[in-house]
Amino acid sequence: MITVSVCIGSACHKRGSYAILNRFKQLVQQHGAEDKVNVAPVFCLGECANGVSVRIDDQLVLGMCEDNVDATWEQLVLPRIG
Ligand code: FES
Repeated sequence: MITVSVCIGSACHKRGSYAILNRFKQLVQQHGAEDKVNVAPVFCLGECANGVSVRIDDQLVLGMCEDNVDATWEQLVLPRIG
């Protein structure tokens, strides 16, 4: 199981973390990957100045926005679920 943790701390929340969280959830559904990818909100990942912050397993991905969720999914999540 891969865990995609989306920061919903206040700095990231202001930058739109809920839209990112929801887009990841949509992608999981579209790929029927509910048993392979868990998308969950988390509190501050310690990179408030560089958010929105996302952690994919133990890899921190910074500067997330609505526009790069799909690319991040393709580059960092899809290869891990095969
Ligand atoms: S609020 Fe998201 S990294 Fe701190």
